[in-house]
Amino acid sequence: MKIFTTIKEVREAICQRKSEGMSIGFVPTMGFLHEGHLSLVRESVRRADSTVVSIFVNPTQFGPQEDFKEYPRDLEHDSGLLQKEGVDVVFVPDQEEMYPENFSTYVEVHGLQDKLCGRSRPGHFRGVCTVVLKLFQIVGPDIAFFGQKDAQQAFIIQRMVRDLNMNVGIEIFPIIREEGGLVLSSRNSYLDNEEKKAAGCLFRSLKLADQMIKGREKDPRRIIQAMKQIVHSEPLARIDYVEIVDLENLDPLDKIEGDALVALAVFIGKIRLIDNLIVSLKE
Ligand code: PAJ
Repeated sequence: MKIFTTIKEVREAICQRKSEGMSIGFVPTMGFLHEGHLSLVRESVRRADSTVVSIFVNPTQFGPQEDFKEYPRDLEHDSGLLQKEGVDVVFVPDQEEMYPENFSTYVEVHGLQDKLCGRSRPGHFRGVCTVVLKLFQIVGPDIAFFGQKDAQQAFIIQRMVRDLNMNVGIEIFPIIREEGGLVLSSRNSYLDNEEKKAAGCLFRSLKLADQMIKGREKDPRRIIQAMKQIVHSEPLARIDYVEIVDLENLDPLDKIEGDALVALAVFIGKIRLIDNLIVSLKE
């Protein structure tokens, strides 16, 4: 496994592999890797001849009050994990490499970027799209792998790739959870034991939504109300949003008929956590 910090080096290495006819799978990350990331890496290793993983805590997707400085980092541990999975190339640029002086070009996916998480994190998806587009330009992958954990992010990237005719396949894989149902996230390292227990309310509320939908409840308002009740019963939790939206435009649904995304964001103390569920109602 090779680790590169410059765009020039990583391009040369990937170019070489492509000239040998190898297909390139790509998993962009911000590091502090866990089983959620590794599930994507495994899929890429299975599907592509060469897997490239990037580790870059992208400053442009963090708001001024957000945790860019505190975001956990552990390159040594990460590279050990990636080596074991059979990753071929790791790209770890620094900030200047990705955002040189006078950097001034950004990508926005209008509409989708302002919904759900976009409402409380203005500019977040602009930062995500910009860095992902840059990484795609640098790596030139055949397939790139994203987690449903960040469902809105994955949908926005799919839209960006379609709108800008980018020649890369986007694959989305299921959420990996801890035993109790908590979504694996690098930010879980911020939670103390009490907060971790409280964070269980996200999954509990989604399980209830799932049961209600399977029981043929079609009214999103009733489901959202029941979900909110579960979260409200947890004193450490404060709701950012609970929504049931369509998969195409992320607009709130009046009635659950086909596919729907049930998504929520909840503050546990100061830590904002997200979770979601995709449901398909077939008649
Ligand atoms: P990061 O949060 O490190 O996540 C990297 C990828 O791993 C994303 O596609 C995310 O959805 C996926 N992932 C994280 N936790 C997961 C879990 N529990 N189950 C399944 N997949 C999971 O998302 C980002 O980084 C950044 O926004 C990035 C796309 C790298 C752009 O900076």
